[in-house]
Amino acid sequence: MLMSSRVAAFDHWIRTSFVQMNTELENLYFMQEDRAQVIGVGDAVKQALRAEGHVHVVELLAEGNTGDGFDSAFEVLGNVGLYLGALRRHELTNPVREERSPFVEASSLALHVGASLGMAPRFSTAHLATRNKAVAGVRKSFTSLPDEFLFIDENTRGIMSLQRAADALTQIVHLGVSSPVADIQFAVARDALNDVLRFNQRLFDQLDVQRFFYSVRPYYKPYRVGRQEYRGANAGDFSGINEIDLLLGLCQANNPYYAQLLVDKMLFMLPSDQARLRDCMMRVSLLDELLALAPQHSGADWFQRNARSFIEVCDLFGQTAVQHHNALVTRFIEEPARSVVPDHLPGITASGPPLPVLLRALEVLRDLRAAADRADIPTRHADLARLRACLNRG
Ligand code: HEM
Repeated sequence: MLMSSRVAAFDHWIRTSFVQMNTELENLYFMQEDRAQVIGVGDAVKQALRAEGHVHVVELLAEGNTGDGFDSAFEVLGNVGLYLGALRRHELTNPVREERSPFVEASSLALHVGASLGMAPRFSTAHLATRNKAVAGVRKSFTSLPDEFLFIDENTRGIMSLQRAADALTQIVHLGVSSPVADIQFAVARDALNDVLRFNQRLFDQLDVQRFFYSVRPYYKPYRVGRQEYRGANAGDFSGINEIDLLLGLCQANNPYYAQLLVDKMLFMLPSDQARLRDCMMRVSLLDELLALAPQHSGADWFQRNARSFIEVCDLFGQTAVQHHNALVTRFIEEPARSVVPDHLPGITASGPPLPVLLRALEVLRDLRAAADRADIPTRHADLARLRACLNRG
């Protein structure tokens, strides 16, 4: 369906002038001795960004729900979200200083569209990743810095690979873990997870730490829409990762910590992802299925084959989680944060909690996914060991 001309005009602005102004501001910040100093720098550009975006927002708000369907509304939600994310990044708003967003029209537009779609009223990962439509090769972004494109592209590749693994595991649920046909799905999941490891490694090798930390990451900070503060987007806001957690059985929806995480991220995902996640929460995991079959059938060929493939997939998934935390989070967040003047530290993470709190939460996820030997959280270490013990040598 064709987008309204106002929707298209806003989209064009977001893909052109908006990107140019953000890039100009980033270069100004970046050449300072203190790269985290944003207030008072590039004020004329900031005001132009604010004013130009405002014109588009007011027109769209007046137009109301254009009835153009999901794609168009999703586009508007992303664009108004990118605009608000940039205003936050340039310190034209800061949830700590305010009780409500100073951008009344942009908030109204985001709330209207977000509520009608069933999503949080802010831009989400899908806007910049799996639903980021390239126009003549150019993806939507905040800036035209090569490091931002590298980040967006590799994130998207990682997300799509995890989705591929999740799709394959979902098919095994329908086949039953004893089915001989599960072999091809285990192979798809294995290959997809190897791809994730490769893309993460590329990010680790190629992304510039300083540019990422000072010029890309700040666009993912929390901001207010209306009265309420919404956490930032992160590459985890898609259902595939949790589908893998739940279907493998490494994380369990009856664990209150994990269930809370799922509830919190629901509205940051596409409605189609929300539905997939809900469905997964009602399934029996492959690990539980295999453990239930083990006492009677562990000697059978099908059991040996499928349990081996299952363990291989679990191990690879654990490796991706360890790599995300020990390589990416450490190199691109934890290490550079150490050199930031304490005044500028709040607001470094996308979700908002202080960095040590966030890091501990991410460690819990890493260890659940890696089935680490920890007594303080419900990992599946012992259960996986039981399953491993069922495998014949050789
Ligand atoms: C430079 C690269 C990356 C860095 C520094 C990074 C860092 C982070 C941080 C700090 C969080 C916590 C959210 C927050 O800030 O509030 C997070 C969450 C998450 N990230 Fe990344 N990330 C990177 C790339 C990726 C990639 C490529 C993927 C995979 C597609 C990914 C998947 C996730 C997931 C799934 C979560 C949600 C928490 C979880 O379920 O584990 N990240 N990331």
